[in-house]
Amino acid sequence: MRIVAVEELTADMELVREVLDPDTGRILLMKGARGLVHHADRLRGIGIHYLYVKDDIAGDVEIPAAIAEETRICAEQALDRIYEKCELDQRPDYQQIKQTVRILIGKILDNPDMLVNVYEMQCCGGDFLSHSVNVAFLSLLMGSRLEYDDEKMQKLGMGALLHDIGVAGMPSSLLKNREEFTVEEKLLYEQHAVIGYYRVKDSWEISPLSRGVLLCHHERSDGSGYPRRLLKGDIHEFSRIVGLVDCLEELAGGHPFSRRLSIQEALEILNSKAGDWFDRELVKLFVDCIPACPTGTTVLLNDGRKAVVVAQNKGFPLRPVVRIFEDAAGKRVAPGQEVDLLQANYLVIV
Ligand SMILES: [Fe+2]
Repeated sequence: MRIVAVEELTADMELVREVLDPDTGRILLMKGARGLVHHADRLRGIGIHYLYVKDDIAGDVEIPAAIAEETRICAEQALDRIYEKCELDQRPDYQQIKQTVRILIGKILDNPDMLVNVYEMQCCGGDFLSHSVNVAFLSLLMGSRLEYDDEKMQKLGMGALLHDIGVAGMPSSLLKNREEFTVEEKLLYEQHAVIGYYRVKDSWEISPLSRGVLLCHHERSDGSGYPRRLLKGDIHEFSRIVGLVDCLEELAGGHPFSRRLSIQEALEILNSKAGDWFDRELVKLFVDCIPACPTGTTVLLNDGRKAVVVAQNKGFPLRPVVRIFEDAAGKRVAPGQEVDLLQANYLVIV
């Protein structure tokens, strides 16, 4: 399979992973669908920029999911139960969430050098549940790169997974694109940080550091965040990590009710905010977790040929193994010729 930009869809491609509507979570296109090119405009309109497809170029290439489907479903169900209890103003049982965090930590520790294919995040349902699971996973990946011990990982994961529970039960008038908020609606929405914090304030299962993430994940290093306009020195590292990841995931991954940007656009915004909203070091660490050329993406070589990335070379993000499928004249060639860019020094990805 490979990842193809919506603009590059062709008639011979078959959908490998289903496409969900970012607003409703409903299935828009089933796995196995063909004729994808006819859906291009509609997909772009709702912020879906990439699809996982199968064709004769990379039909045999596997792209492993960062979060296995059964893990994701399990985590979302556990979180859904917490949201339901919050909406009913009842006290949730956080034990299952603790277990979910433990599973996510295990996935990361199994593969500490993992590079996250953020395109995968663009294929989720785009609701608060999938958003929160993505944020927890990416935050834990950052924690692992910072060499957090097990206790710190558990606390960071709990805070990240529960970071938006203050949104549960908010009036439906607030569940819309934030660009359309009035001043009053914006202020009301921003209360979710404080509401979330008070929901867990007296829960013995959740440590004070995890609770702090619920309160402070929208604070920004330059004091422009909310609810308390804290400066960097007063924002715990857990909250700075979750705030950064939350921002990227919200821009690119499909936070409900906001326009979904491409990965490149989202990373550009993140980089432009390094030093103001976010720590430069954390932004760099985060960007390093994202492969420049994920397996399955199309790249252009300096000799004009086009290729699909079929494998990574550990430690060399810009020198993957590629499979050529188009010559310099733009003519399709029989896919098969693979080039290891670690060996072919004369070739670079442009
Ligand atoms: Fe939030």
